[in-house]
This record gives sequence, C-alpha cells and structure tokens, in this order.
Amino acid sequence: MNVLGIETSCDETSAAIVKDGKTVLSNIVSSSINFHKKYGGIIPEIASRRQLETITQVVDASLKEANLKQKKIDLISVTSGPGLLGSLLVGISFAKAMSMGLKLPLLGIDHLYAHIYANFLTDESLSLPFIALIVSGGHTSLFYVKDFDQIKILGSTQDDACGEAFDKVAKILGLGYPGGPVIERLAKCGNSKKIKFSCSGTEKPLNFSFSGIKTAVLYYLKKRPMANGQWPVKERKDYRLKCDIAASFQEAAIDTLIKKALLAAKLTKINQIAIGGGVACNRRLREKFKQAEKSGRIKVYFPHQGLCMDNAAMVAGLGFQLYKKGYSSGFDLNAVLS
Ligand code: KG4
Ligand code: ZN
Repeated sequence: MNVLGIETSCDETSAAIVKDGKTVLSNIVSSSINFHKKYGGIIPEIASRRQLETITQVVDASLKEANLKQKKIDLISVTSGPGLLGSLLVGISFAKAMSMGLKLPLLGIDHLYAHIYANFLTDESLSLPFIALIVSGGHTSLFYVKDFDQIKILGSTQDDACGEAFDKVAKILGLGYPGGPVIERLAKCGNSKKIKFSCSGTEKPLNFSFSGIKTAVLYYLKKRPMANGQWPVKERKDYRLKCDIAASFQEAAIDTLIKKALLAAKLTKINQIAIGGGVACNRRLREKFKQAEKSGRIKVYFPHQGLCMDNAAMVAGLGFQLYKKGYSSGFDLNAVLS
C-alpha cells in the first residue's frame, strides 16, 4: 500500500511516499527557514505563504522521486495538528482536494505521534509497548505507547519546550536561529562543567520545565562585564565563554531529558525508550542515552537524523498503521491546534 504523506505544521513543506508503513520511497522537505532567520524565529504568515507557493511542486517531486503515478497512491495522510494554523490549513486543504479529485481515502495525523513513528522507519526491532520522548521546538513530552492508537501522555513541559530553550539561549548568545545545531556545535569546544546550570524542578516528576534555565543563562551573562558594554563580542576570550555556556546549558538540558525518560521507563516497567523530534538530532543527547543504555536496563531508539526534523515520511508511515486499523477522516477534517 502506497501512502502519500503531507506535512506542513511549521516552516517545512514536506511530501513523502511510504510503502506499507516501512519503505520510504521518497521524502521531500522544503524549508522556509532562510526567510525567517532575520526575525530570530518562525513568522507564521511567511511560513504559510511559502507553503502555499511550494506544496504542488513538493508533492509532484515526491511522486517523481518514488517513480509513482498519482493513480498508484492508496491513501493520503496529512498532519492535522498541532502546529501553526495557516500552515496546517495549507496541507489539509491540499490533501482534501487531492483526496476528492482522485477519490482516495484521507487521514488526519497527529504531528507528535508521527514523530514517534519515525523510529519505526529506522529500526524495525522496536516493538510495542514502549516509552516515547518527543523533544521538538514546540513540545517536550513523554508518552506511553501501547499501540498506534493507544498513546497516553505521561508528562510534558510546563513552560518552554526543550528545542525552544535551545533557540532562546542561542538568541541570548547572539547565535541566530535555529539554535539547536549551533549550540551543539559550540558545545563541542566548551567545558560543560564550567558553569552550573540546572533545569527547575516540577511538581509532577514526569513534567519538564525549561524556562528557568534559559533565564539563568541570561542572568549569568548580565552579571558579566562585556567588552564595550556589548554582547555578543568577537574576542576569542568571549568565544570561549560562549562555548562554555553552550556546553553547560546543553549538558543540563540533556541530563533532565534522560533522567525523566529513565524515570518513566522505571515507573511503567518498560525497557524500550524511543526518542523523536528536532532535538533528537543532537549527538550529545544520543551519546548520553547510549551511555545510559549500558546499564542494561533499557534499550534506546533514535530515528535517522533526516527523520528527526519535521518530515512527511513519518506522517505517511503512521497513516498506514492507523488506516489498517480502520481509521479515516472525512472532508470535515480540520486543524487541531494543541
Ligand atoms: O521537530 P522540529 O523539526 O519542529 C517542531 O515540531 O518544532 O524541531 C525543531 C527544533 C528547534 O527548536 C531546533 O533548535 C531543535 O529542534 N534542534 C536541535 C538540534 N537540531 C534541531 N536542538 C538541539 N540540538 C540539535 N542538534
Ligand atoms: Zn515536529
């Protein structure tokens, strides 16, 4: 069964063809990130306008790369939320029109559950049930995944998402957007023990809080004398400081993610943890989870790098599984914002 996936929840316009929920025949991702960079974050109006302009070409490219004719598609699976309203509506409207025109079944998909599914496109040894940790720019959540349609939330962030904290710390350091990759790069040259940052505690042990640590970075800098009263400055000394801040922040954020994921595994007596979302690209996070795996109590799964960030293959894959279980959407499918 060939599923066309469409993903437009944030700045990406993505279309993919996935066969039988496993084989990725194509996965085209077009990002409008360069149009947002100068604003230091995603501007929803720019994102949806770009998506409107590119979606037809992106879907055509996904068919071409998969070497598939439209009539060979069996299902259209589209992200229906959560995400930016205008962006979601571009994808949903396009999927509805295609479904109507080609008389194909339609299925709306939850973006976070699709991030979880990215793991199945990478490693077939992952089996149900398992714990999922989704860490992206908009969400940080722990789930108990019993089946593809039985996913229970165990905890989530009370304030900023983890990726959002990476983005905000990068902004404070004058490093540009998106912050995750650049913080990771600087952290490699920094000393993570130099500054003691930590994430705030939460009343519910499986919830997260990342807003306090971001503010701690800001105050740490405010207390320091800066060359010419300016931050950022280019002197080597300050570059070193930036690296130490990046490394110390990253280490604290990662330690919290790992600690809570391990706790979720312990409380549910489940030994598999699957990670997903943009922050799952982070190599230090992968390395530290792999170290935790050495205890022998847990097995950790990560999607391929290209399947961590927003992409339509994960939407098509989950669509296949849910359609097989009898799920489908009508033309009243609408965007779900949270
Ligand atoms: O899942 P995603 O592509 O979009 C959302 O659904 O939000 O995640 C984007 C987020 C951004 O906040 C970005 O800074 C973060 O993922 N990110 C990273 C890395 N690469 C992307 N965070 C830490 N380390 C990275 N290497
Ligand atoms: Zn995402």
